[in-house]
Amino acid sequence: MKCFFSFCILFAVLSHLFFSVKCFNQAKAKGDIVIEGLFPIHESVIVTVNDDGSENRTRDRFSTARLVQSLIMVQALEEINQKRELGNLTLGYLILDSCGEVTTALIQTQAFMMRNSNNRQDCAQQSSPPVLVVIGDYYSELSIGVTGQLHLEYIPEISYGATSGFLSDKTRFPSFMRTVPQDDHQGHAIAQILDHYGWTWVGVVATDGEYGRYITERLRHHATKKGICFAFTSVLPDALNDDSREESINSTIKSIIDNRNVSVIISFAKAYHMIDIFGKLLKYPQGRGKVWLASDIWSQSPEVLSSQNYKLSDVGTIFGVTLKSGNTTKFERYLDDLDENPNHHENNTFLSNFLKEHGTNSSEELKKMIYPYAVFSIELAVKAIAQAVKDLCTNRDCKTQSLRPLELRRALRKATFHMEEKSYSFDHHGDLNSGYDIILWKQTQDSPDVNNILAYYSIEHQSLTFTSQETQQALQSHIGNVTSKCTDSCRPGYRKTSVTGQPGCCYQCEPCAENQYSNTTDSEKCHPCKENYYSKNTSSVCLPRKTDFLKWGDVYLIVLLSFTSLGAVLTIVVGIIFLAHWNTPVVRSSVGPISIILLLSLMITFTSVILFGGPPNSYQCQARQVVFGLSFTLCVSCIMVKSFKIVLAFEFDPVIQSILKKLYKPYLIVTVSMAGQVVIVTTWLVLSPPYIDSEITQDNMELMFCNEKLIPAFGAMLVYIGLLALICFGVAFKGRKLPDSYNDAKFITFAMLIYFISWIMFGPVYVNVTGKYLPAVEMVVILISCYGILFCQFFTKCYIILCKKEANTEKAFRCNIRNYSMDHKGSEDEVSSNRVENPNLSVSVKSQDNWNSVKLSLSSLKVIK
Ligand SMILES: *[C@@H]1O[C@H](CO)[C@@H](O)[C@H](O)[C@H]1NC(C)=O
Ligand SMILES: *[C@@H]1O[C@H](CO)[C@@H](O)[C@H](O)[C@H]1NC(C)=O
Ligand SMILES: *[C@@H]1O[C@H](CO)[C@@H](O)[C@H](O)[C@H]1NC(C)=O
Ligand SMILES: *[C@@H]1O[C@H](CO)[C@@H](O)[C@H](O)[C@H]1NC(C)=O
Ligand SMILES: *[C@@H]1O[C@H](CO)[C@@H](O)[C@H](O)[C@H]1NC(C)=O
Ligand SMILES: *[C@@H]1O[C@H](CO)[C@@H](O)[C@H](O)[C@H]1NC(C)=O
Ligand SMILES: *[C@@H]1O[C@H](CO)[C@@H](O)[C@H](O)[C@H]1NC(C)=O
Ligand SMILES: *[C@@H]1O[C@H](CO)[C@@H](O)[C@H](O)[C@H]1NC(C)=O
Ligand SMILES: *[C@@H]1O[C@H](CO)[C@@H](O)[C@H](O)[C@H]1NC(C)=O
Ligand SMILES: *[C@@H]1O[C@H](CO)[C@@H](O)[C@H](O)[C@H]1NC(C)=O
Repeated sequence: MKCFFSFCILFAVLSHLFFSVKCFNQAKAKGDIVIEGLFPIHESVIVTVNDDGSENRTRDRFSTARLVQSLIMVQALEEINQKRELGNLTLGYLILDSCGEVTTALIQTQAFMMRNSNNRQDCAQQSSPPVLVVIGDYYSELSIGVTGQLHLEYIPEISYGATSGFLSDKTRFPSFMRTVPQDDHQGHAIAQILDHYGWTWVGVVATDGEYGRYITERLRHHATKKGICFAFTSVLPDALNDDSREESINSTIKSIIDNRNVSVIISFAKAYHMIDIFGKLLKYPQGRGKVWLASDIWSQSPEVLSSQNYKLSDVGTIFGVTLKSGNTTKFERYLDDLDENPNHHENNTFLSNFLKEHGTNSSEELKKMIYPYAVFSIELAVKAIAQAVKDLCTNRDCKTQSLRPLELRRALRKATFHMEEKSYSFDHHGDLNSGYDIILWKQTQDSPDVNNILAYYSIEHQSLTFTSQETQQALQSHIGNVTSKCTDSCRPGYRKTSVTGQPGCCYQCEPCAENQYSNTTDSEKCHPCKENYYSKNTSSVCLPRKTDFLKWGDVYLIVLLSFTSLGAVLTIVVGIIFLAHWNTPVVRSSVGPISIILLLSLMITFTSVILFGGPPNSYQCQARQVVFGLSFTLCVSCIMVKSFKIVLAFEFDPVIQSILKKLYKPYLIVTVSMAGQVVIVTTWLVLSPPYIDSEITQDNMELMFCNEKLIPAFGAMLVYIGLLALICFGVAFKGRKLPDSYNDAKFITFAMLIYFISWIMFGPVYVNVTGKYLPAVEMVVILISCYGILFCQFFTKCYIILCKKEANTEKAFRCNIRNYSMDHKGSEDEVSSNRVENPNLSVSVKSQDNWNSVKLSLSSLKVIK
């Protein structure tokens, strides 16, 4: 008994010590289960040190809003008691003022915990039952301190506003729970909003402390992932009387004004800091018209503006994230019905003081300070406790068998409770992921309306849902045009390049090179165009490449084809003339059948020219050189036969003549020369046939052309023809002085010269010319060669056949030949005079030998015929 008494005395002394600290009013109501409410009804304390070293703590900055919050708890408890939701059990409360400061909160907590342990010693029977559970505190920092102390007795603590992520750590804070989500989610939500509006260069202001540091860190974490950078981060010291406070506010103002490209500022600062910031910042015109993104800590604090007499339009736009709002209707009715006589609230000194001060205006003043989120989360906390108690007391009489805190904690973690027809429960971190509301401040008559909800943010889906189309447009019209970027965006056609020494959000734009594109703003890189597409530099699209080739409609090609057709027609005409005068000496002397073959091959060569025009295809590519090569070889070998024949006819040395006669096998010669070319061409086609190729021209067209890949083969083909032509030329050159009727040789020489000159010119031109007119060069050269042969070989003969019929007789030929023979062997003078005077009549054979050889020649003509 003695011991017992002495303990009671000790307790009395202790409790006197604590409660003599005059900061502390309280509110209490009896009940079977007592819930403590810890509210920062005063936002701060002023600590002065007395002469003896002890501290004098004076509360400061009374907050009507927090008083209202304590009343929300009272109302919720009273409702449960009234409705007898727990049967005969009643809930009591003890509301204490944490003064927004850790030490005060700890002193308060310790006071009732002492009483708790005392009760357990069965000391003061008259005192109320022990506190089983705590609702509060609003601030994370206080909650962290208090929950550690409460955990000594396993007393669970349910906060309605402490959102710091540290508190989710259940190994450190096992007794802590909350009816709000932790701030990592808020950081994520804000980062998503920034990302959605393309704000990549933003400022951050925060109040130092668990809340500010943690949410700033989380925002940075989520924002960095989305490529958002902080232009500045200002951390303001928490203590109100700190000397450095004004300085840090000043430097924050400076940061905001200096960073002109930052038009969006995210603030995690406490309301009183925002009051200071706006008070100074709005004096500068550059500080106005910004977008302020408020976190839950001040997003519903209209006093931020009203206390400075600033209008919302001065600030710019304030919108923000709030904790999920509750329905305030019921609580407003409670305040309406509030008994405004202070004497009736002797057990709630906070309220009675307020009533004394505001009189009949009280309930209006209180109603102004209702934060809808507090209605939701405080009511939810009360409901959670009620549910846990109900769960525990279904099978036992809690009136006599008192509950223990640890039991209650377990029950709370498992409880499923209901509000507005929705069920909630704590997750394994003791958090309640109810989501956020996005609000936009609206200017009203006296103070801004801070309950204008635009959208909901669902933590589960990590997505924003607007309440209606109108709210979405309302927000869009406020902030849709706001840009907050370090540097101008890169237009499509450019890509971002980082600048060394600058954060990633400050970059330069570099144009995309040719044949690359970027089609988004702020593209990270330029993409290459697909095949057959092209783009100029700084392009946002690729264009299909146009193909280019020598088109049928091309004027050059039309001219060339006209010449080709003309040539072909002339060849046919010549052929007809020859056939019509088949047995005349002129035709016979030019070896009729060989001439026809020659005409045919010329015809084919002319045709092959057509293959050089138009859109290339692989057959055409392969055919054109081959057809040309073979037909022209045939052409030249026919001419070769003719030149051989002429030389043979006028070779007067019998020995050589007999040798030549043996060698002179026209069709064999033609066949052998053709065979050589066939071998070359076949080798070419087998080894590496020409194929279609393309290249990009300077005007970004895709030029289609035939690639005669194996140039040596092409060369060999031409050289082979050239060799044959050289033989013709050599042989014909030898016979260039033969009689007029046989001036074939002269003309062959001439035709071959034309051929050589044109092909010699062709070489360098062909090598140097690129583009679609390359085939035209070859066409021209082929046409020149063909026309050369056609004119030289046939036109004079046609002239004789058609216009000088008298010369086209055997007699005239003989005469001519005799003249030549005499000219060759006898007196030059006589022959020349004879020829000049009358080439057809004067026949004077001087040498029998010569005459014989002429006969021989003529007979050999017949052989060929
Ligand atoms: C504490 O300080 C306040 C003023 O700050 C003063 O009125 C009060 O008397 C002081 N109390 C003690 C115990 O010193
Ligand atoms: C309430 O208490 C009364 C008497 O104390 C008792 O008769 C009654 O059964 C109790 N009701 C419940 C629901 O416990
Ligand atoms: C803050 O700025 C104001 C002017 O804007 C100046 O008067 C004051 O001295 C500054 N305070 C500090 C601590 O720098
Ligand atoms: C709030 O609850 C009241 C009834 O208590 C209801 O009439 C009202 O529509 C609710 N308000 C909202 C916004 O849900
Ligand atoms: C205040 O509390 C005391 C004892 O706890 C009680 O007797 C009294 O009725 C209460 N006053 C009011 C107004 O509720
Ligand atoms: C109540 O409000 C009116 C005007 O709103 C004011 O004139 C009056 O002084 C207020 N009364 C008290 C007790 O504050
Ligand atoms: C936003 O920009 C659009 C077009 O760019 C313009 O029509 C609209 O008026 C602007 N809104 C604001 C609030 O500046
Ligand atoms: C702000 O933006 C403008 C234009 O985008 C740019 O020229 C300027 O360098 C930026 N200022 C800073 C401090 O980055
Ligand atoms: C950009 O180009 C890609 C294909 O290259 C295409 O899929 C995409 O739709 C384009 N985007 C825009 C905005 O044009
Ligand atoms: C882009 O191309 C144009 C002409 O094609 C040229 O004048 C210009 O210098 C190029 N720009 C860049 C950045 O390469």
